[in-house]
Amino acid sequence: MTVRWGVIGTGGIARSFVGDCVAAGIEFTAVGSRTLESARAFATEFGIPTAHGSYEELVTDDQVDAVYVATPHTRHAEDALLAIGAGKHTLVEKAFTITQVEARTVVDAARDAGVAVMEAMWTRFLPQMAMIREVVAEGRIGRPVLVEATHHQALPTDPRHRLRDPALGGGALLDLGIYPLSFAVDVLGVPTSVVAAGTLSEQGVDTQMGLVLTHQGGAQSMLHFGMDVRSPNTASVIGEAGRIDLDSTWYTPTTWRVRDTDGTVVEEYDGREELAGYGHEARGFEALIASGDHRGGPMPPEETVAIMGVMDEARRQVGVRYAADGPSSAS
Ligand SMILES: NC(=O)c1ccc[n+]([C@@H]2O[C@H](COP(=O)([O-])OP(=O)(O)OC[C@H]3O[C@@H](n4cnc5c(N)ncnc54)[C@H](OP(=O)(O)O)[C@@H]3O)[C@@H](O)[C@H]2O)c1
Repeated sequence: MTVRWGVIGTGGIARSFVGDCVAAGIEFTAVGSRTLESARAFATEFGIPTAHGSYEELVTDDQVDAVYVATPHTRHAEDALLAIGAGKHTLVEKAFTITQVEARTVVDAARDAGVAVMEAMWTRFLPQMAMIREVVAEGRIGRPVLVEATHHQALPTDPRHRLRDPALGGGALLDLGIYPLSFAVDVLGVPTSVVAAGTLSEQGVDTQMGLVLTHQGGAQSMLHFGMDVRSPNTASVIGEAGRIDLDSTWYTPTTWRVRDTDGTVVEEYDGREELAGYGHEARGFEALIASGDHRGGPMPPEETVAIMGVMDEARRQVGVRYAADGPSSAS
C-alpha cells in the first residue's frame, strides 16, 4: 500500500523532512498551515497538490493516510490528538510531547483508534544504528557497561526563538538532549535512576545539562548537551570486551569503528554514503503502519513514553518548568 502523507506546520524541520522524503520518492498529498499563504508557498516548493489554511482541514483530508506533525513541542500533543482523532497514522517530531502525561495520552489515544503513532527520532532509523544494535546484541563488544554521548550546537540566541522560550518548550534537553538520551535507552534500556545537573537561562530554560543514568544491571550513561556552543558530537558504547566509537557527528550518517579492549580497530564502517536521513525514518513509519502491530519498530511508542518520563525527572532536578507541568507545589 502506498502511504499518502500530509504535513502539519511549514517551518524548518518540515522543509528538511519533506525535502528528503520527496527526493526518496515518498508521496505527500497535502500540507496544512495556520495560514493558507504559507501552506500554498510550501505546496508549490515541494510539488504537493493540496494546501490547507488550517490543521483541522489537513487532518480531515481524505487523500491523507499519515500525518507528520512538525510544530513546536508544546503543540505536539494537541496536534497529534487532532490527527489521531481523524483516524490518521501520526508521526510526531521530537520531543514527542512536553511531559510524560501528554505522551501517555497520545499513545493511548492512537492504540484506542487503531492507528500508528511514533516519535520522529530519525537517528534510530539510520542503517548504521541497526548495525550498532547488531554489534551489541551479538556480544562483539561483550557486555555493554557505558554509553558516552554529547550533543552541542550553537543555536540562535534571540530570546524570542522557540529554543529559548519556555512557552514553546525551549531548552537543550527537549531539542538536543533527546538524541543522546534516546541512544542510551536504545542500547542499554530504560534507566532505573537519573541524576541531572544543568545551567538555566534568565528565561528559565536549560542552556546545557549533564545526565548520569543508571540502567538495569549497573550499566551507565554519561550524556551532555547544550545549545550555546558546538562540540565534536561523538559517541561511544563501551563494553567488557571492546567498544564502538562513532565519529562526529554521531547522530547523522558517519564513520564508526569497533575496537578491542586494547583500542585496536577490529571493524571499520563508513555510513556517509547513506541516503539523507529523514527518508529512512519515513519508510520506517510506513513499515510500522504496514505491520499492523503498531507497538514495535526501532522507536516503540512505549519507549517514547518512558523517555518522556526521564526528561520530566531531569527537568524537575534542574528546575525547568513548563505550563504543561501545572502549578509548582512550592508556589
Ligand atoms: N528531527 C530533527 O532533526 C529536528 C530538527 C529541528 C527541529 N525538530 C523538531 O521539530 C519541531 C519544530 O521545529 P522547527 O525548528 O521546525 O520549528 P519552526 O521552524 O519554528 O517551525 C514550527 C512550525 O510550527 C508551526 N507553528 C504552530 N504554532 C506555532 C507557534 N506558536 N509558534 C511557532 N510556530 C508554530 C508553524 O507552521 P505554520 O505557520 O505553517 O502553521 C511553524 O512554521 C520541534 O519539536 C523540534 O524539536 C526536529
